[in-house]
Amino acid sequence: MHSRSFNLAIVAGDGVGPEVTAQAVRVLRTAGELSGVEFNIHERVIGGAAVRAFGDPLPEDTLRTCLHADAVLLGAVGGPDFDSLPANKRPEAGLLRLRKELGGFANIRPAKFYPQLASASPLRAELAKGADIVIVRELLGGLYFGEPRGKDASGAAFNTMRYSEPEVERIARIAFETARGRRKKLTSVDKANVLETSRLWREVVVRVAKDYPDVALDHVYVDACAMYLCTQPARFDVIVTENLFGDILSDEAAALTGTLGMQPSSTIGGAVDLYEPVHGSAPDIAGKDIANPLGAVASVAMMLRHTFKLEQAAVELENSINAVLDGGYRTTDIRRGNEKLVGTAAMGELVDHAFADRMHHYAAYHAV
Ligand code: IPM
Ligand code: MG
Repeated sequence: MHSRSFNLAIVAGDGVGPEVTAQAVRVLRTAGELSGVEFNIHERVIGGAAVRAFGDPLPEDTLRTCLHADAVLLGAVGGPDFDSLPANKRPEAGLLRLRKELGGFANIRPAKFYPQLASASPLRAELAKGADIVIVRELLGGLYFGEPRGKDASGAAFNTMRYSEPEVERIARIAFETARGRRKKLTSVDKANVLETSRLWREVVVRVAKDYPDVALDHVYVDACAMYLCTQPARFDVIVTENLFGDILSDEAAALTGTLGMQPSSTIGGAVDLYEPVHGSAPDIAGKDIANPLGAVASVAMMLRHTFKLEQAAVELENSINAVLDGGYRTTDIRRGNEKLVGTAAMGELVDHAFADRMHHYAAYHAV
């Protein structure tokens, strides 16, 4: 008997997506069993895998399953086999359409430094150790979706960067709320010295700030932000920025922690929350059981916390990741010395066992 029952859509996608997602699903099942919650798992194809099977990067059945789910977990999409396809048939088009249909406009991308991985960071340890950043990336506007787009009569190509006040206001509110739950510092990143969209962005953020007097707000141009991320990452708490700037800065921020493989993300604010690791499909290492599944696993922790309000399970899962790193286990992307090398599945299993132990221990402790 389960007190609560939920539907999860799992869209593993391409490259390393299926491998890392399998480990995420493993811990999800454990979380469900040990929290007394039933997770009904519905696996569907997306991206290149869906192009291969159905000639469509987001088949109707996949979309419908995702729209009816309580949360969606995505692996990664894309790969070199699809580079010659027209834009609307590319794997990325499937992900972009899914984001739009689900409606989540706020992409939350934490970039947290793991002290155990200091030697994997490209920064000196004393710089890297202060990095504990959340990037709040606007996900449904800007150049990704702006119209018109295409080619004109001369053959020149163009895209449109467009933001309306309500679009900026809603993402600003999520960012202020996020900062409120943390160190209460928000940096709004724009290019207001050049772009109209950025001037509007800044105006609206300043207006919204009046409702959050407890949060310290500053504004940084995107180029300076890119520099500060690697020269003084500790100066940031929460960063809010538009879609493309956020795409670029979130890769940079994640890389500072040593690897893209560890960082999770959530996309919220729409009808259905979407969770995905920040890393891509990494076709060069796909199918070799060497990809780091911890970004996908950490995305499950975000899901447990945010969508299902299973805070304890989320904390125990995050602690389990830390415990396995403390135990000296490393996938190749984060291994620098002579730590114990493990593959994708073994890493997932280690975290899953640590997680189950912790959940049992917690249950036993709280039963008395
Ligand atoms: C990301 C990715 C996607 C994006 C691609 C795959 C469409 O880079 O999630 O950051 O640009 O948003
Ligand atoms: Mg990206």
